Amino acid sequence: MCGIFAYLNYLTPKKREEILELLVNGLKRLEYRGYDSAGVAVDSAEAKDISIIKKSGKVALLAEEIKNRSDELNMGVTVDVHCGIAHTRWATHGVPNEINSHPQRSDLQNSFVVVHNGIITNYKEVKVFLEKKGHHFESDTDTEIIAKLIYHFHQQHPNFSFRELVEHVVQQLEGAYALCFKSKYFPGECVATRRGSPLLVGIKTRTRLATDHVPILYGKDADSNPEHRPHGRGEFPTLPRTGSTSEFEPLEDKQVEYFFASDASAIIEHTNRVIYFEDDDVAAVKNGLLSIHRIRRAGDDPQKREITTLKMELQQIMKGNYDFFMQKEIFEQPESVINTMRGRLNFENGTVTLGGIKDYIPEIKRCRRLMLIGCGTSYHSAIATRQLLEELTELPVMVELASDFLDRTTPVFRDDVCFFISQSGETADTLMALRYCKLRGALIVGITNTVGSSICRESHCGVHINAGPEIGVASTKAYTSQFISLVMFALVMSEDRLSLRQRRQEIIDGLKNLQNQIRDVLKLDNKVKSLAEDLYKKKSLLIMGRGYNFATCLEGALKVKELTYMHSEGIMAGELKHGPLALVDETMPVMMIIMRDPVYTKCMNALQQVTAREGKPILICEENDKETISYSQKYLEIPRTVDCLQGILTVIPMQLLSFHIAVLKGCNVDCPRNLAKSVTVE
Ligand code: F6R
Repeated sequence: MCGIFAYLNYLTPKKREEILELLVNGLKRLEYRGYDSAGVAVDSAEAKDISIIKKSGKVALLAEEIKNRSDELNMGVTVDVHCGIAHTRWATHGVPNEINSHPQRSDLQNSFVVVHNGIITNYKEVKVFLEKKGHHFESDTDTEIIAKLIYHFHQQHPNFSFRELVEHVVQQLEGAYALCFKSKYFPGECVATRRGSPLLVGIKTRTRLATDHVPILYGKDADSNPEHRPHGRGEFPTLPRTGSTSEFEPLEDKQVEYFFASDASAIIEHTNRVIYFEDDDVAAVKNGLLSIHRIRRAGDDPQKREITTLKMELQQIMKGNYDFFMQKEIFEQPESVINTMRGRLNFENGTVTLGGIKDYIPEIKRCRRLMLIGCGTSYHSAIATRQLLEELTELPVMVELASDFLDRTTPVFRDDVCFFISQSGETADTLMALRYCKLRGALIVGITNTVGSSICRESHCGVHINAGPEIGVASTKAYTSQFISLVMFALVMSEDRLSLRQRRQEIIDGLKNLQNQIRDVLKLDNKVKSLAEDLYKKKSLLIMGRGYNFATCLEGALKVKELTYMHSEGIMAGELKHGPLALVDETMPVMMIIMRDPVYTKCMNALQQVTAREGKPILICEENDKETISYSQKYLEIPRTVDCLQGILTVIPMQLLSFHIAVLKGCNVDCPRNLAKSVTVE
């Protein structure tokens, strides 16, 4: 939750207007992480103080406010060195008003300002301490204690460097955070750190980088102990050339720009060279040099942070010809499913290779059970594939909601294999569950869409789903790609089983046809839109199904709830007579998924139970299934595929339906109220 963006230009002249534009654009890219309020802090017009501009609501309102204050902000002036920090908020402590927006400040003079993503769990204790020291709080946020605490340390230790002050602060904090600081006492400097919330820095230089990594400096003495700075001052970008010297050009000059952000999508338009920070890294930029320090040395912590080249393309994070990111992402599915399979599934010889877990397959085959853990849509992808995993692995498969799994302190054993499914790779509940299982010795497999995310890095092995950036808060293409990743895993696990040869082949054939079949389903868009017109004024929608399509009911209901704010419930058709049937009458909107799979007859029983109560269900059924269609005036015909893949095709009309209802109701499709894309709080 919350998006952090900071921009530091060193010896790179920029107009103040450009800097503010850059900060606001960075926030726009991160808006999916939270959109309750937004703010920026830049040097004041005379560069002696810090100006903070905050606005409740979306980033566009902040941009407008900046425009209104352009005279006061001296937009035309060019600065050679400058640091600006910015934030888009998803409120956790305190209502989304301007006072509670970030940056939060240390005092009325804005001596220190900070932006924060996460939750500080011991903020009340720290607040009491600071109040006793005479600090006056103005907001209801947990973040304000951070700004005040650093100011307090500065008053106590006026000779401490900015980085040392931040190190002191974070040692007092409990909870999860990514932080970026700016101070009027340290102009042109920025310090950033993280624990439990994502943060990375993009580096842009005019010449090629002098190195492919930044060494880590340890402990308080890192500045003074020559052992800890084997390469010059151990700072970027003045590192001497290393390795094969011909590969690197020394930097011609010191011009450099740094972009700190919660997510690479805010950086990609400026540079593709990034460093992902680890928990407890404290990154400081001073005189244009980046250094990374660690407060304590973790046992197996690497000695350097690699500079990674992002593969992402700018157009991937733009809307293109679509009005909404969600719409674009739904329509991208014919390509995204192929990207998930690319280089992994060989349709010619029927082999599947998952490079990220290949070495662990023998160990996985010996395990006691598989556990699939996730939240929301990611959890639904586990439900969707459980039956196939049970069939092809012949192992017990547990599917768990990460939050509930932790609440129950579920027993986990060394010979368990735990899959953590997460689009963002940063979901706090899923990450906590991962750490819980890792501590107990289980093998950790990450199924994520975000390279470099915490779940990616903390897993023993994993599958990257390669769906491409998903910006719409409601997950769509990530679901179908997670689904396929898990199907491919099941195929890998069963590759040497003769008795399953035919079954595997029909699944592989099904995967091969999927792209075209998804295209056909997307052609139903207009039909789905007219169903949405019938439904958007209703109060509730029940979605029923069973077997392989039960997950579609849950996922469809989640999409309807989050996008349209309408009540919706996914109902296991077998449970109808145990309660939900009481809801059914001629007025209750019902959808039923009835495919010609092994539970077809049971689904038809449920259909009859519904129609006998005057229910008028909208059916999602197989193409040309005249018998089923005869039960309803309203239906969507879906191409037939192998039973275990059918859920990929049946979920798409539900994605489209929720989208169209949301548009008709005037809801914010990409940023539904009260939600954020990346849920980094428990
Ligand atoms: C629903 C949705 C959420 C996420 C959930 C987990 O459309 O997007 O339910 O699926 O918050 O997020 P990830 O997959 O990032 O762990």
